[in-house]
Amino acid sequence: MASFEKIVDVETIRETQRSRGLATILAIGTATPFSCVNQADYADYYFRITNSEHMINLKEKFKRICDKTMIKKRFMLLTEEFLKENPNMCEYTSPSLNARQDLLITAIPQLGKEAAIKAIADWGLSKSKITHLIFCTTSGIDMPGADFQLTKLLGLSPFVNRLMMYQQGCAAGGTTLRLAKDLAENNKGSRVLVVCADSIAPMFRGPNENHIDSLVGQALFGDGAAAIIVGSDPDLSIEHPLFEIVSANQTIIPDTEKAINLLLREEGLTFHLHKDVPKMISGNIENALKRAVSPLGLSD
Ligand SMILES: CC(C)(COP(=O)(O)OP(=O)(O)OC[C@H]1O[C@@H](n2cnc3c(N)ncnc32)[C@H](O)[C@@H]1OP(=O)(O)O)[C@@H](O)C(=O)NCCC(=O)NCCS
Repeated sequence: MASFEKIVDVETIRETQRSRGLATILAIGTATPFSCVNQADYADYYFRITNSEHMINLKEKFKRICDKTMIKKRFMLLTEEFLKENPNMCEYTSPSLNARQDLLITAIPQLGKEAAIKAIADWGLSKSKITHLIFCTTSGIDMPGADFQLTKLLGLSPFVNRLMMYQQGCAAGGTTLRLAKDLAENNKGSRVLVVCADSIAPMFRGPNENHIDSLVGQALFGDGAAAIIVGSDPDLSIEHPLFEIVSANQTIIPDTEKAINLLLREEGLTFHLHKDVPKMISGNIENALKRAVSPLGLSD
């Protein structure tokens, strides 16, 4: 009886499936919501909209935090009108998950679509050439997910291979780049559309003097989407690679599981940021980088 290997040459099949070159970033697009507040005015806006003007010291502290973020503008899906219609979102803890989810289920795929359209235009090829889609967000969680909604909104092929990544927080960009590299390099001819879209809307809440870390998040987090197209072996007559993704990996810094915690509750997505997060990063980044680049022969 012939063995499986003799009938089907799996090595040859494998070779024809795999790309030859490194994954490259072929195009980039970004989008932000229409509504915008200057960060310099945000303390006034935030304390007024949350009816917290009487918390004078807290507002001063919030102003200091806003200044230190070095952010100039914040774009927000949440408009003043929406917040007035949903006053529970302006409390520190009041049930408000439904209002948040109802907004995000349509707004996040839509924001992703705006960034994706720009990336596809930058790429210059037909959207029918997209073979894979990765969508990543921490804003909303539903089925079918934002990946499915975006496929419909963009009119992508129903044969596109989709991957929905939820709850990656600030790691969204790095995580999706790593996955896109693996997909592009392991699927000859693939073109991976990667979309990350996020918003403060799951987390927006009023101030509380016992939870300054919540204020830090209110000052730091804004709304926006970014999209890229990743593929190996670009056709240089029509595609214009911007970067090669040479290597991508992930690491867990010891004893940091309490550093950043987010919990989905009736009052939305609550979060806790340990004060030492910047210290944890600065204390570990050198070793993490050494591990990442030394296999590539880099030591500087
Ligand atoms: C908020 C931030 C921009 C402030 O910049 P900074 O250079 O550290 O400035 P400061 O140390 O003066 O901090 C400003 C104020 O915020 C307070 N603060 C900063 N981080 C805090 C935290 N995690 N919890 C509570 N208070 C915090 C400081 O105590 C300080 O208060 P004060 O003005 O009354 O002294 C910076 O610390 C930062 O980006 N931190 C967040 C990092 C993080 O968690 N990122 C991941 C987000 S998912």
